[in-house]
This record gives sequence, structure tokens and C-alpha cells, in this order.
Amino acid sequence: MGQSQRVVVVDHPAVQHKLTLMRERTTTTATFRALLKEISMLLAYETTRDLPLVAHTVETPLATIEAKMLEGKKLVFVGILRAGQGILDGFLEVFPSARVGHIGLSRDEETLEPREYYYKVPPDLDIRDVVVVDPMLATGGSAVAALDRLQAEHPRSLKLACLLAAPEGIAEVHARHPDVPIYTAAIDERLDENGYIVPGLGDAGDRMFGTT
Ligand code: PRP
Ligand code: URA
Repeated sequence: MGQSQRVVVVDHPAVQHKLTLMRERTTTTATFRALLKEISMLLAYETTRDLPLVAHTVETPLATIEAKMLEGKKLVFVGILRAGQGILDGFLEVFPSARVGHIGLSRDEETLEPREYYYKVPPDLDIRDVVVVDPMLATGGSAVAALDRLQAEHPRSLKLACLLAAPEGIAEVHARHPDVPIYTAAIDERLDENGYIVPGLGDAGDRMFGTT
């Protein structure tokens, strides 16, 4: 795993292999969705590596021992709709009991500003660890809008997990939310004039759902 101060690049060979398949323009909708879920399970694993553990007495068939279990309340994963649903699916395979929130944001194609159309998150975020998930961190506008909303609920901790990040989006999140670590499978080169990540993989929502 490559790591700088506040960005963790999950560069495991299995992640990089699957990401390359996702980038390929001829990859079908079904395969794209399946790959996103598979990579997201691996992202979930790295994003939660530092979760605190607590001692728990367990009786095995042979002995009684002090073993370890996750400490505290259930995790909360917040997906940015639409495309965040794909990452949520993978995270929930790894943590099936996690609570789930959704924030509906759509990016205006002209201004690239996010517009919120839905917000529903679990209560008690102040005693829970929260991970915001969205495959694409492009200008960073959507991620910052989601993080702004969630910071107002004072979560115990807050992280951002994405599949692909542009340097511009990372800089924006760092500027507006310096305490939020970012986990990503890759940092791409740049944004194009339409705010798309280059080389990227195109429009994640369209590729996931077969829309255009
Ligand atoms: C995409 C993507 C992110 C956002 C990233 O969503 O899933 O949410 O763009 O761009 P930004 O960093 O410049 O804000 P989009 O708004 O296209 O909506 P969709 O998921 O419904 O397709
Ligand atoms: N949203 C996407 O789905 N893809 C990009 O490259 C940028 C924003």
C-alpha cells in the first residue's frame, strides 16, 4: 500500500488488475458492476485497517480465551448516489451489519457544481465511524458537499473512499476537510475541460447502470 500524509493509494495487484479491466471502454455493464463490487471489498479492507479492537472472552471447543472484536457502535457507510451504490455493495459484503446512509448529488454539466436531491443518514453519528463512498473524486465538489453535510452531525470519525481520484479533487478535499483521510485505488493524471478524470474510466454512473 502506497501512503502519503492523508491519501492512501490501495495499490494491491488484485485492485490494479480489476481497475484496468474497469477502465477498458468495451467492458460490459454487468462486468463493470461486478468489478466495482470486488474492488470495493478490497478498499473496505484497507479503509478500516485502523479500527479499534476490544478484548472479548470466547469459549472455543477447546479453551476459553480473550480474543478481539471490533470496538464500539456499528460503522456507517454513506454512498453518494448514484454511483456510490456500487461501492456500498462491496463495503457491505465485508461489514454486513453496518448502517447505511445515502446522499443524492448530481453534478451540473455546465457549472460542475453538485446539487443535492436526497439526504438520509442513520442517527447517532456522533458515536459512530463514518466512511463516505463514491467511485469518482473529480473536482471534489460532490465529496466536499457530502463531507460538509456529515461534519455537521459530528461523527466520531470521517473518511472518504473512492475508486479513482484526480489531483484537483484531492487538493479540494484537503483544503476544505484537512482531517478527512482519502482512500483510493489510483490517482489519475488530471481533469479534462468537462471535469472528467483523464485517463479515468468515463462516467461511472452511466457505466454502472447502462445510461448515457
Ligand atoms: C459523479 C461521481 C461523483 C461526481 C464526481 O456523479 O459519481 O459523485 O460525479 O465529480 P466531482 O468530484 O466533480 O463532484 P454524477 O454527478 O455524474 O452523478 P451520478 O452518480 O448520478 O451519475
Ligand atoms: N464523474 C464521473 O463519473 N467520471 C468522471 O470522470 C468525473 C466525474
